Amino acid sequence: MGSNFNFIMIKNYPKLTNLLLSLIIIKTDLSLSEKYNVLFICVDDLRHLAETDVLLPNMMKMAAKGINFKSAFAQQALCAPSRNSILTGRRPDSLRLYDFYSYWRQTIGNFTTFPQFFKENGYETFSVGKIFHPGLSSNFTDDYPYSWSFQPYHPPTEIYKDAPVCEDPLTKKLESDLICPVIIKEQPGQTLPDLQSLKYALNILRQKHNKPFLLAVGFHKPHLPLKFPRKYLDKVPMSGIRLPAFPLMPENLPLVAWHPWSDVRKRDDINQLNISFPFGNMPPEWILKIRQSYYAAAVYIDNLIGLLMKQVNLNNTIVILTSDHGWSLGENGLWAKYSNFDVALKVPLLFLIPGYQQRSVSTPVELLDIFPTLADLTGLSKHEPKCGHRVNYSLCFEGESLVPLMKSHTTYQRNKNYAISQYPRPGEYPKPNSDKPRLKDIKIMGYSIRTKRYRYTEWISFNNTMFTRNWTSIHGLELYDHHVDPNEAKNCYMKKKYIHTVEKLSMLLRTYVNKFK
Ligand SMILES: *[C@@H]1O[C@H](CO)[C@@H](O)[C@H](O)[C@H]1NC(C)=O
Ligand SMILES: *[C@@H]1O[C@H](CO)[C@@H](O)[C@H](O)[C@H]1NC(C)=O
Ligand SMILES: *[C@@H]1O[C@H](CO)[C@@H](O)[C@H](O)[C@H]1NC(C)=O
Ligand SMILES: *[C@@H]1O[C@H](CO)[C@@H](O)[C@H](O)[C@H]1NC(C)=O
Repeated sequence: MGSNFNFIMIKNYPKLTNLLLSLIIIKTDLSLSEKYNVLFICVDDLRHLAETDVLLPNMMKMAAKGINFKSAFAQQALCAPSRNSILTGRRPDSLRLYDFYSYWRQTIGNFTTFPQFFKENGYETFSVGKIFHPGLSSNFTDDYPYSWSFQPYHPPTEIYKDAPVCEDPLTKKLESDLICPVIIKEQPGQTLPDLQSLKYALNILRQKHNKPFLLAVGFHKPHLPLKFPRKYLDKVPMSGIRLPAFPLMPENLPLVAWHPWSDVRKRDDINQLNISFPFGNMPPEWILKIRQSYYAAAVYIDNLIGLLMKQVNLNNTIVILTSDHGWSLGENGLWAKYSNFDVALKVPLLFLIPGYQQRSVSTPVELLDIFPTLADLTGLSKHEPKCGHRVNYSLCFEGESLVPLMKSHTTYQRNKNYAISQYPRPGEYPKPNSDKPRLKDIKIMGYSIRTKRYRYTEWISFNNTMFTRNWTSIHGLELYDHHVDPNEAKNCYMKKKYIHTVEKLSMLLRTYVNKFK
C-alpha cells in the first residue's frame, strides 16, 4: 500500500517529490558522515623505542589510551617496498618490489590501496608529506588520482633535505652531516619540511568536511640526515645516552646478513672518521652522538604528533600511528635499516578507536594487517570481492584484521601468530650495493619468521627474472632465542638443543612463503 501511496505522490506532486528526493540525498550524506574519519600517521624510519631509550610523551599518551601492538613488524626494512606493502596490503613478493624501481599497477596488477578503497567508498582522501615513497614506485604521482581525492602535498622545503646546512662544531663549515641540529630561523625558507606538513594537515583537520575523510600524514624524520631543531637536544642529555647492549657483529653471523650502512658512512661527518669498509666499527663516542640525535629527532616528531592530535576529534576518528620500518642504532655493529634484524623490522603500531578500550597486545603482527583492520573497523570489509591470490583489480588481503586481537579478553587464535619479513642481497659478501640492491642485482633473498620467542632467517638463492626461490641453495641461516638473547647477539641455529626448533620454524617459514609466487 505504502508504495502505491508514494507512486501517487510522485505522479501528482512533482514539487513534493523533489523535496523527498533531496531528503533522501541528505540522508545518504548523513549516513556517510556518521562513518569514522581516519587519521593515518606514518613516521619515516622510526624504530620501536622503549621508555628506557627515550621519552616520547605524546606517543606514550596515545599508547595509554589506545591499542598498543608491542610486536609489530615491517615486511621489508626499506621505504618503498614497505610502504607499497602497507598501502596495498600485499607482500613485497606479491608486488615484486624490493627496490625503488617499479610501479605495481604497471608491472604486476591493478591492486587497490587502502586510501583508494576509502575513496571508492565515499571518503575524501588526503596525502600530506611522505606516504607513498616518491618516484617510480608510485609512478611519480604518489598514486594520484587512484589513491587520493586531492593532489598529494609535499612540503616545499623538502628539496633541501640533503643540503649542506649543518654547521661543523669545530670548523663552523656548513656540511651535509648525519648529525644536524639546526636553528629553524637559519634554515632555507626559515622552516623545516615536517613543520610545513603539520601546518597543512592541521588546516585539513580544521576544515568543515561534508564527507568522512582519510588523512594520511607522513613525517620525514627521524630519517637521515638527523636534522631537527636544536632545542630538542636538551630533551635527551648526553648523560642519559647509553651504548647498545651488544655493539659488535653477532657470533656466527653469516656474512650475507651483514650490510655496510653506506648511507650512514657517506655523510660528511661520518665519512671523516675513515671507518673501514665493510666491517669497521663506529667509534663509541659517535655511537652515543648518533643515538642522541636520533632520539632528539624522534622527540621532535613526537611533539608534532602531539600538536596534530590536539586537533583530532577522537569521538569520530580512528587514529593509526606507525612507521615504515625500524632502524639499527649500533646494535650488532649495524646502522640504519637494510636487514632482517629485529631492530630494523620492529615498529610502533598504535590504534585509537572510538569505543575501544586500552589494550596492549604482544602477539607478533605485521604492517600488512593495517589494511584489513581498517576495512573491518569501518564496516567496509563486506565490500571486499572474493578472489584468489593475485587476481587483478581486487582487494584480497594478505594480512589479517587485528580487530579480534583488540577486543578479545581471552587468547584469540589468529590464522598465524608470527610475522614474516624479507630482505634481498646481491651476494654473500657485503658490497657497496648490499644495502639496497636493484632488482637486476638481487641473487639472494633472506626470509625471516618472528614468533613470540624466536627470530629465524634463511638466506636462499633467488632468481630475479623468474621470481623463483631455491630453498636448497642456502647462503646463511640464523636463529635468535629472544628468551635468552633479546639483542640477537648469538646466532644459535647450529646448537643441538635447537634442532627441533629450527626444523619447525623452517617448515613454517617455507610453507608460508611458498604461498606467494
Ligand atoms: C585500475 O583501477 C582503477 C581504479 O579502479 C581504474 O580506474 C583503472 O582504469 C584501472 N586500470 C587499468 C589499466 O585497468
Ligand atoms: C604512470 O604515469 C605515466 C606517465 O605519466 C602514465 O602514462 C601512466 O598511465 C601512469 N600509469 C598508470 C597505471 O596510471
Ligand atoms: C682520515 O683520512 C684522512 C685522509 O687519509 C686523514 O687526513 C684524516 O686524518 C683521517 N681521519 C681520521 C679520523 O683518522
Ligand atoms: C566527545 O564525546 C564526549 C562524551 O560523549 C563529549 O563530552 C565531548 O564533548 C565530545 N567531544 C567532541 C570534540 O565532540
